[in-house]
Amino acid sequence: GKGAAMVTAVAYRLAEHSREIAQTLSEFRLTTKQLLDVKKKMRTEIQNGLSKSTQDSATVKMLPTFVKSTPDGSEHGDFLALDLGGTNFRVLLVKIRSGKKRTVEMHNKIYAIPLEVMQGTGEELFDHIVQCISDFLDYMGMKNARLPLGFTFSFPCRQTSLDAGFLVTWTKGFKATDCEGEDVVGLLREAIKRREEFELDVVAIVNDTVGTMMTCAYEEPTCEIGLIAGTGSNACYMEEMRNIEMIEGDEGQMCVNMEWGAFGDNGCLDDIRTEYDRAVDDLSLNPGKQRYEKMCSGMYLGEIVRNILIDMTKRGFLFRGQISETLKTRGIFETKFLSQIESDRLALLQVRSILQHLGLDSTCDDSIIVKEVCGAVSHRAGQICGAGMAAVVDKIRENRGLDHLDITVGVDGTLYKLHPHFSGVMIQTVKELAPQCNVNFLLSEDGSGKGAALITAVGCRLRQESNN
Ligand code: GLC
Repeated sequence: GKGAAMVTAVAYRLAEHSREIAQTLSEFRLTTKQLLDVKKKMRTEIQNGLSKSTQDSATVKMLPTFVKSTPDGSEHGDFLALDLGGTNFRVLLVKIRSGKKRTVEMHNKIYAIPLEVMQGTGEELFDHIVQCISDFLDYMGMKNARLPLGFTFSFPCRQTSLDAGFLVTWTKGFKATDCEGEDVVGLLREAIKRREEFELDVVAIVNDTVGTMMTCAYEEPTCEIGLIAGTGSNACYMEEMRNIEMIEGDEGQMCVNMEWGAFGDNGCLDDIRTEYDRAVDDLSLNPGKQRYEKMCSGMYLGEIVRNILIDMTKRGFLFRGQISETLKTRGIFETKFLSQIESDRLALLQVRSILQHLGLDSTCDDSIIVKEVCGAVSHRAGQICGAGMAAVVDKIRENRGLDHLDITVGVDGTLYKLHPHFSGVMIQTVKELAPQCNVNFLLSEDGSGKGAALITAVGCRLRQESNN
């Protein structure tokens, strides 16, 4: 009768919806062939960044760091470290002891950087940083110590020495004026002078990837790669000096900060970018830039999810077709929420309560779809991050003329640490795409702070040697 016809119609519509949802999400499932292509392109961009003739226009900049070796255990002393550019801004005191029993002791305090400071003037930003250092020194009772300082500054910098780094461009959520093109160490020293309250000896500027690599290498000498999968995405590794054409000399190695987040900025990833990736990029602080990072890091995954949900709601598959104010709000899906939603231990009812907490009223069906969307987006993130890493390990293997390479990657970042599936997918992808390498991933606890101190220790030693 009539009722049966209606039931059939509803069932038909639902089947049609789930077919269309599956269709939309299938764009996020990359095939091995596509991933091999991403790996190959990353390899090309690495080469462009290393060669003198192509470096100017290269998207993956391959920035020399002036770190020429990993720690050897002789590092010693008390150091201050700053960590700017991740989820939190921190000031740290790091006490490193060499000898028979090597120890590293750390004290740190987290400080907020208000949005208006992140996006205000450079002077305000650096005054704020120095204000936080001042508070920390009071707290530790160390105002008069004139400690050597290592500055972990997690943005692309063109370094001319260990203690000079010119900001190429802001990335992630930062946009303070009058900093791009400037030596960030100079800006920090000037702000310390302006305050006329204490002195510090700024010895090194360090990318977070490099700090992470150094921290892991302190425990595990086979660690020659650093990876951050957090707010942003980036990697560094020990490259042969003879391959770094921008730096004089052919002997030994130097760590290169790849700045791989900018991979794809020349359009080479356009074939795998979706309409949602383009929407996220268009609405970001830096449209057209950091396109790879925008597909695989914590600051943007939630935004991709949100854009898919908006589209699906418009098409009537979700939230009864009603786009709420919440759904229109940028940044609602932070990494920690994505991680919770995708946790396997979580019942769907709990997914609904997370959505509720975010201000999204969902039905049971809605929560299933939201979880699927999150899964598709984070799975692709793991895949393409793995494809990038596969290019790096194979490059190192070929540098050394080996058929087989054993190597360790030091890793840090909220996405890697908090997300239930990202790391597994990433590691699996590296295995598949670089079968001649045996890659061991080592979590670096507090890599940025400790690593900056280790590099500062080496910097102090080198200075003394050149003074004698
Ligand atoms: C961004 C920055 C890079 C940093 C990464 C992880 O990609 O440009 O320098 O290493 O985020 O924090």
